Amino acid sequence: MTRAKRTASTDPASPGRGLSRRGLLGLAGASVAGIGLGVAGDRVALAATTTLGSGSGAGAASASMVYPFYGSHQAGIVTPAQDRLHFAAFDVSAGVTRAELIELLQDWTIAAAAMSAGRDVGEYGAVSGPYDAPPQDTGEAQGLPPAGLTITFGFGPTLFETADGVDRFGIVGRRPADLTPLPHFPRDDLDDGRSDGDLCIQACSNDPQVAVHAIRNLSRIAFGRAALRWSQLGFGRTSSTSTSQATPRNLFGFKDGTANIKAEEPDVVTDQVWVSAADGPAWLAGGSYLVARRIRMTIETWDRSILREQEAVFGRTKGVGAPLSGGTEFSEPDFALAGREDQPLIGAAAHMRLAHPTQNHGTKMLRRGYNFVDGNDDLGRLEAGLFFISFQRSPTQFTTVQLNLAKHDALNEYIRHVGSALFAVPAGTPDGGYVGAALFA
Ligand code: HEM
Repeated sequence: MTRAKRTASTDPASPGRGLSRRGLLGLAGASVAGIGLGVAGDRVALAATTTLGSGSGAGAASASMVYPFYGSHQAGIVTPAQDRLHFAAFDVSAGVTRAELIELLQDWTIAAAAMSAGRDVGEYGAVSGPYDAPPQDTGEAQGLPPAGLTITFGFGPTLFETADGVDRFGIVGRRPADLTPLPHFPRDDLDDGRSDGDLCIQACSNDPQVAVHAIRNLSRIAFGRAALRWSQLGFGRTSSTSTSQATPRNLFGFKDGTANIKAEEPDVVTDQVWVSAADGPAWLAGGSYLVARRIRMTIETWDRSILREQEAVFGRTKGVGAPLSGGTEFSEPDFALAGREDQPLIGAAAHMRLAHPTQNHGTKMLRRGYNFVDGNDDLGRLEAGLFFISFQRSPTQFTTVQLNLAKHDALNEYIRHVGSALFAVPAGTPDGGYVGAALFA
C-alpha cells in the first residue's frame, strides 16, 4: 500500500491537505514545538515513503478488513462489529477558538483516514522523519494491517453549551434539541470521571494494538486543543451487527446481540439508526446518536447463582440463546406462553422481555458494546463489565428502554451503571472534507 504524499497546511479552509501547525505541535510535543514546525516546512519537498501497512502485512489483510474512512455514514456503526475497542472522550481545552476546533477536526480527519487505510500518521510517519524531531507517528502499529479499523467521532452536549451556559464556539443555535444530558435513571451510580465529554472517538479493530494506536495518536494530535477526559478499552464484542457474524457472549456467559439490528436490514437501519433530514437539525442528517454506558457486572455474585436463575434473568437459555418460550436462537419469543402455575415462561422481569420492542412502543437500537476487565477492586473482585454502546436515531429510544430496565430488570441485582455519555455522531465525511464540517458551515 503506497502512502499518499501530503503537504502541511495552516489554512482551516484546506482540510484535505496536511496536518495544521497546531496538529504538528501536538505531534512534536510542547518542548520541541519549534523543531516540529521547522521540520514540517522542510519536509514538504520530500517524498513520502510507505511504512505502516506496506508489504506482506497489508497484502495479507483481506479487503473486508479495510473500511474506508470517507463515505456517506461514518464507519463503526453498521460496519461489522470488530473484536476490540478503545473508546475515548475529550474535553476541549480552555481558550480554544472556533477556528482552532475546526482545525482539530480537520487534523483528526486526515489522521483517521490514514490510519483506517493502514498508513502512518503524518508526512513521515514513524520512522522516515529526521533524527532531530519526535516521529510523527508513535510507531506501535508498524507492520500491522488495519484489521478492520474504524474511527467514529461524536459531539457531546457540552461542545454546544457548557454546564455554565457558555457557547464557546458559536454553535448553540445548531444544537440538536435531543442532545441534552441523559436523565438520571433509578440505580444510576455514575462517576463524573467516567462520564460525558465534549468530543468522543470510538476506535474499533480486530487488533487491540491498532485500536490503541489510533486513540493514542489522535490524543497526541489534540495536544493543547483537547485533552482526554476518560477512556475505555474493550475486548470481545458483545453484539453482532451483521448476519454474517456469529453471536458472541458477554461476561455472564450468555449470547449477546441475537435480536440486535443488523446491517442487512436497511429499512430498520434507516428507521431506527440514522437521523433523517426531517428530524433536524440539517447538519446531523445521516448521522446518529451514540449512548455509552459503563456497566459494572458483579461477576462473583453471578457465578454463585444457579443456572435456572441465570436463564430467568435474561429470558433465554444459556446454551444456544433460545427464548425460554422455546425454539432456537433466532426464534421469536412467545411472551404469553405459560408454564407451571400459569407463570409466563419468560418472566415479567426478564431482561429480554423488558428490552423487547413490544414493551417499548416499537423502539429498537443498534447495540455495539464490548466486554471489559480493568484489573480488580480493593475487595479482590474483578473490575469487569460491559461497556454498552448503542446507536439510535434519537436518544429517546435508549431512554425509553433504559427506564423500563432500570425499574424492573431482574439483571439489576448483578449490574451497576457507573459511567454514562451521549454524543451526536455526524454523518460520514466526503473525501477532502472533515468530520462534522456541516455543523460549522
Ligand atoms: C450488563 C448489562 C447488560 C447485559 C449483560 C445485557 C445482555 C443482554 C442479553 C444476553 C440479551 C439477549 C440476547 C440479545 O438479543 O442480544 C440482551 C438483549 C437486549 N438488550 Fe441487553 N444487556 C445489558 C444491558 C442493556 C442495556 C443498558 C440496554 C438498553 C437500554 C439493553 C438493551 C437490550 C435490547 C434492546 C435487547 C434485545 C431485546 C429483544 O428485542 O429481544 N441491554 N441483552
